[in-house]
Amino acid sequence: MISIKNDNDISHLRMAGRIVADVLMLMKEIVGPGIDTLKLDKRAEDLITASGACPAFKGYRIPGIPRPFPGTLCVSINDEIVHGIPSSVRILQEGDIVSIDVGVRFEGYYGDAAYTFPVGKVSPERAKLLEVTHDCLDRAVNAAREGATLGDIGFAVESFVVPRGYGIVRNYAGHGIGKNLHEPPQIPNYGVPGTGITLKSGMVLAIEPMIMTGSEAVRTLKDKWTVVTADGSDAAHFEKTIVVTGGDPEVVTPWE
Ligand code: MF3
Ligand code: CO
Repeated sequence: MISIKNDNDISHLRMAGRIVADVLMLMKEIVGPGIDTLKLDKRAEDLITASGACPAFKGYRIPGIPRPFPGTLCVSINDEIVHGIPSSVRILQEGDIVSIDVGVRFEGYYGDAAYTFPVGKVSPERAKLLEVTHDCLDRAVNAAREGATLGDIGFAVESFVVPRGYGIVRNYAGHGIGKNLHEPPQIPNYGVPGTGITLKSGMVLAIEPMIMTGSEAVRTLKDKWTVVTADGSDAAHFEKTIVVTGGDPEVVTPWE
């Protein structure tokens, strides 16, 4: 069952989403060569708690993963796709790309968004990957309209990236969100237009394309969380939480 949010729900989701966006904007200011990823995590957690919210990922369990996620942020560098763990010994270097994914709970409602930042000056190939993945997210969000289907969202991503020679992460997907971090439906980043459930006004979705420069195989590190590309190629990840409306989708995590 996909829940339809009422006005009260949506006003709370906006507040949760605002905090998520504030964290990503803080990250944009402090990401740079030499900063350690635990420091990023601490700054994010401080801002979240000062805003009256709680980190949503810390302590979160995903079925099949034997331990809860230890951080406030998922920090995934270069060939890491998602679910990278912040650590004082993981230090950003000039030329890296770093996906920062943040979730919060505020008055019982969740917000979830991610952005992949360049660290200092990055190679043209990395800059292009960020641009393409960012464009994918915009296209996917734009497809999330009343009367459209889940397949339309996936197709918006797939039809854009595959002809450009990039790979799609296929075994992780976006998701519904609301009073839970993960709600139905799952939102794959590939699909056939006109297939899958039909979107209705009041559905709230976390849309999150994950794109790699190389082949699509992925693996999980021994830490049981960090998902990396199997061939060591770079990956990027952008995410927004949006509300399906009668008109343009409303982005509730406005990080731009
Ligand atoms: N945005 C990611 C997702 O929706 C982050 C989850 S991290 C976790 O899957 F720690 F909470 F699992
Ligand atoms: Co998410």
